[in-house]
Amino acid sequence: MTMLLLLFLLLISPNLVLSLNQEGLHLQKIKESFDDPDEALSNWSNRDDTPCNWYGIKCDPVTASVYSVDLSHTNIAGPFPTLLCNFQNLSFISLFNNSINSSLPEEISACVNLQHLNLAQNLLVGPLPSSLSNIPNLLHLDLSGNNFSGHIPASFGRFPRLMVLSLVGNLFNGMIPSFLGNISTLKQLNLAYNPFAPSQIPPELGNLTHLEVLWMTQCNQVGQIPDSLGRLQSLLNLDLAENNLHGLIPKGITNLSNVVQIELYGNSLSGGLPTGMSNLKVLRRLDASKNYLNGTIPEELCTLSLESLFLNENRFEGTLPKSIAKSPNLYILWLSDNRLIGELPKELGMNSLLESIDVSKNQFSGNIPANLCTKGSLQELLLISNMFTGQIPKNLGHCSSLITIEMMDNRLTGEVPPALWGLPRVYLLNLARNLFSGEISTIIQGASSLIVLLISENRFTGNIPDEIGLVENLNKFSGSDNQLTGPLPASLMKLTQLTMLDLHNNALFGELPSGFRSLKELNELNLGNNEFSGKIPVEIGSLTTLDDLDLSRNLFSGNIPLELQNLKLIRLNLSNNYFTGDLPPFYDKEIYRDSFLGNPDLCGDLLNLCPRSSSEAKKQCFVWFIRSIFVLTGLIFVVGVGWIYSKYRNR
Ligand SMILES: *[C@@H]1O[C@H](CO)[C@@H](O)[C@H](O)[C@H]1NC(C)=O
Ligand SMILES: *[C@@H]1O[C@H](CO)[C@@H](O)[C@H](O)[C@H]1NC(C)=O
Ligand SMILES: *[C@@H]1O[C@H](CO)[C@@H](O)[C@H](O)[C@H]1NC(C)=O
Ligand SMILES: *[C@@H]1O[C@H](CO)[C@@H](O)[C@H](O)[C@H]1NC(C)=O
Ligand SMILES: *[C@@H]1O[C@H](CO)[C@@H](O)[C@H](O)[C@H]1NC(C)=O
Ligand SMILES: *[C@@H]1O[C@H](CO)[C@@H](O)[C@H](O)[C@H]1NC(C)=O
Ligand SMILES: *[C@@H]1O[C@H](CO)[C@@H](O)[C@H](O)[C@H]1NC(C)=O
Ligand SMILES: *[C@@H]1O[C@H](CO)[C@@H](O)[C@H](O)[C@H]1NC(C)=O
Ligand SMILES: *[C@@H]1O[C@H](CO)[C@@H](O)[C@H](O)[C@H]1NC(C)=O
Ligand SMILES: *[C@@H]1O[C@H](CO)[C@@H](O)[C@H](O)[C@H]1NC(C)=O
Repeated sequence: MTMLLLLFLLLISPNLVLSLNQEGLHLQKIKESFDDPDEALSNWSNRDDTPCNWYGIKCDPVTASVYSVDLSHTNIAGPFPTLLCNFQNLSFISLFNNSINSSLPEEISACVNLQHLNLAQNLLVGPLPSSLSNIPNLLHLDLSGNNFSGHIPASFGRFPRLMVLSLVGNLFNGMIPSFLGNISTLKQLNLAYNPFAPSQIPPELGNLTHLEVLWMTQCNQVGQIPDSLGRLQSLLNLDLAENNLHGLIPKGITNLSNVVQIELYGNSLSGGLPTGMSNLKVLRRLDASKNYLNGTIPEELCTLSLESLFLNENRFEGTLPKSIAKSPNLYILWLSDNRLIGELPKELGMNSLLESIDVSKNQFSGNIPANLCTKGSLQELLLISNMFTGQIPKNLGHCSSLITIEMMDNRLTGEVPPALWGLPRVYLLNLARNLFSGEISTIIQGASSLIVLLISENRFTGNIPDEIGLVENLNKFSGSDNQLTGPLPASLMKLTQLTMLDLHNNALFGELPSGFRSLKELNELNLGNNEFSGKIPVEIGSLTTLDDLDLSRNLFSGNIPLELQNLKLIRLNLSNNYFTGDLPPFYDKEIYRDSFLGNPDLCGDLLNLCPRSSSEAKKQCFVWFIRSIFVLTGLIFVVGVGWIYSKYRNR
C-alpha cells in the first residue's frame, strides 16, 4: 500500500522525489534556469539520491556535499546561478566557455568557500561586483573574454589570498589602478586587451614580489616603464606589448633574474637596450620589435640561451655580434628593418637549430653564411634588401626543411644551386633583383609546394623548362627582365592555379601555345617586349578573371580576336605588333588609345589608327584609276579595231 502511494506520488509530482538530497534539488532548479541545447545536463536525474555522479559535479565521498561544479564547454546559456552559493562546501566553479549572460550579482560573495572561479569566455556584462574580494579564500579569479566594463573596484586591492586575477579581453575603460599592487599574494595579473583609459603603468605593481606573469598587451598604457618592475623577483613573463610606452627601457629590467619571456613590441621605446642584459640568465624570448630602439645589439645579449630574438623594425646599428652564432637554443632571429651593417657571422646555424632568420632591410654585406642549414632545421630565410654578394651557398640547395626563401634586392651572382629550384617544401622563392645568371633548372619539377616564383630583374638565360608545368600549385610566376629565350612551354597551361604570369622584357619567341582556356584564375598576363609571333589565341578571350593583358612589343600578327571583347580588363596593351584588320568595336574608344599604338595595319574608326576614311578613299581612287585604264585601253582597242575594220571594209 505504501509502495503504491509512493509510486502515485512519484507519478503526479516528479519534483517531490523524496530521496534526492538538498544540493541535488538546488541543482535541478539550476538546470531549469539554463538553456541547454546540447543536453549536457541530461544525466542530472531527479531519481538519484545525490548529484554526485552527475555530469560536472564532484562531491566529498563521505558527506556527499558538492565541492566542485565544472560545466565548461557545455554550451549552456542563462544568468549566473547564484543558487550555487547555498552550497557550503563549494570551492570550485567553472562555467568557462558558455553563454552565461547578464551581469554578475553582488550576491556572489555568498559563495564563501570558493577558491576557484572561472567564468571566462561568456557573455557577462556590466561592472565587476565589488563584493568579490569578500570571498576570503578566493585564489583564482578568471573573468576573461566577457564584456565587463567600467572601473576595477577599489575593493580589489583587498583580496587576502588571490593568486590569479585574469580580466583579459573585456571592456574595462577606467585606469589601471595602483591598488592592484596591494594584492601581495598575486602570481598572475592578466589585464591584456582592454580599452583602459590612457594611464601610466602603476609603479606599485613592483610590490607584487610573488608575481610570475604580468600580461598587459593592448592596455593603453602611456609614459615610461617603471623601474620598480625590476623588483618583480619571481617574474617569469613580462608582457607590455602594443601600448604607447615611451622613453628608455629601464635598467631595472635587468634585475628580473628569473624572467623567461619579455614582450615589449609595438611601443615607442627609444634608446638602447640596457646594459646588464647578461643578468637575465634564463631569458628565452625577447621581443622588442616595432619600437625606436637604437645603439648596437649588445654582445652580452648574444651570450644568453635565447630561443627567439625579435629586434626587427627598430633603429639598431652596427654589426651583429659573432657570439650570436654560439647561442645553442636560438631558433628565431628577426632583425629586419634596422641599420645593421657588416657580415652575418660565418658560424650562424652551426650550433643551433635555426628555423627562421629575417635580416631583411638592413645594410648587411658579404656572403650568405654557408652553414645556415647545417642542422637541417631552417624553414624561413629572408635576406631582402641588403647588399649580400657572391653565390648562394651550395648547402642551401640541400636544405629540405626550407619553406620560404626571399633574397630579393641584393647583389647575389652566379648560378642558383640547381637543387634549390626543386626544394619540396618551399612555397615562396623570391630571387628577384639580383645578378643571378644561368638557367632555371629542370629540377624545378620537384618543387611540389611552390606557389610563388619571383626571379625578375636578373640575368637568367635559356629556356623556361617544360618541367615548370609539373609545379602544379604555382600561383605567381614573375620572370620579367631577364634573358630567357625559346618558346612559352605548352606545359604552362597545366598550371590551373596561375593568377600571374609576367615574362616581359625577355627574348622569348615562337607562337603562343594553345590551352589558355585552362588558366581559369589568371589575372595578369604580361608577355610584353619579347619576340612572340603568330596570332593571339582566341582562347584568351575566355579568361574572365583577366584584368591585365600586355602583349606589346612583340611580333604578333593577324586579327585581334573579337573574343577579347569578353574580357573585363583594367589594362590592355597590344601596342607595337603587326596586327591587321579591324579593331574589335568595343576597343575602338578613346580610353584604349594607348593600347594599340604602333600597329600600322590595324584599323579603327574612332581611334583613327589607320584612318579608314582616307585609306579607303585612296584605295577607291586606286581602283578607279586601274578601272579607268582598263576602260580606256578597252575603248582605244574597240575604237582602233572599229577604225581598222571600217578602213579595210571601205576598201
Ligand atoms: C553522467 O555523465 C558523465 C559524463 O558523461 C559520467 O561520467 C557519469 O557517470 C554520468 N552519470 C550518470 C548518473 O549517468
Ligand atoms: C561540508 O563539509 C563538512 C566536512 O567535510 C561537513 O561536515 C558538512 O556537513 C558539509 N556541509 C554540507 C552542507 O554538506
Ligand atoms: C567551447 O565549447 C564548445 C562546445 O560548446 C567547443 O566546441 C569549443 O571548442 C570550445 N572552445 C574553446 C576555446 O575551448
Ligand atoms: C540569457 O540567456 C537566456 C537563455 O538563452 C535567454 O533566455 C535570456 O534572454 C538571456 N538574457 C540576456 C540578458 O541576454
Ligand atoms: C560585447 O562587446 C562587443 C564589442 O563591443 C559587442 O560586439 C558584443 O555584441 C558584446 N556582447 C555582449 C554579449 O554584450
Ligand atoms: C593599498 O595599500 C596602501 C599601502 O598599504 C594603502 O595606503 C592603500 O589604502 C591600499 N589601497 C587600497 C585600495 O586598499
Ligand atoms: C608599493 O610601491 C610603491 C611605489 O613603488 C611604494 O611607494 C609603496 O610604499 C609600496 N607599498 C608597499 C605596501 O610596499
Ligand atoms: C637592481 O639591482 C641593483 C643591484 O642589486 C640594485 O641596486 C637596484 O636597486 C635594483 N633595482 C630594482 C628596480 O630592483
Ligand atoms: C638613441 O636615441 C636616443 C633617444 O632618442 C638619443 O638620445 C641617442 O642619441 C641615440 N643614440 C644613438 C647612438 O643614435
Ligand atoms: C603600351 O606599350 C607602349 C610601348 O610599347 C607604351 O608606349 C604605351 O603607353 C603602353 N600603353 C598602355 C595602355 O600601357
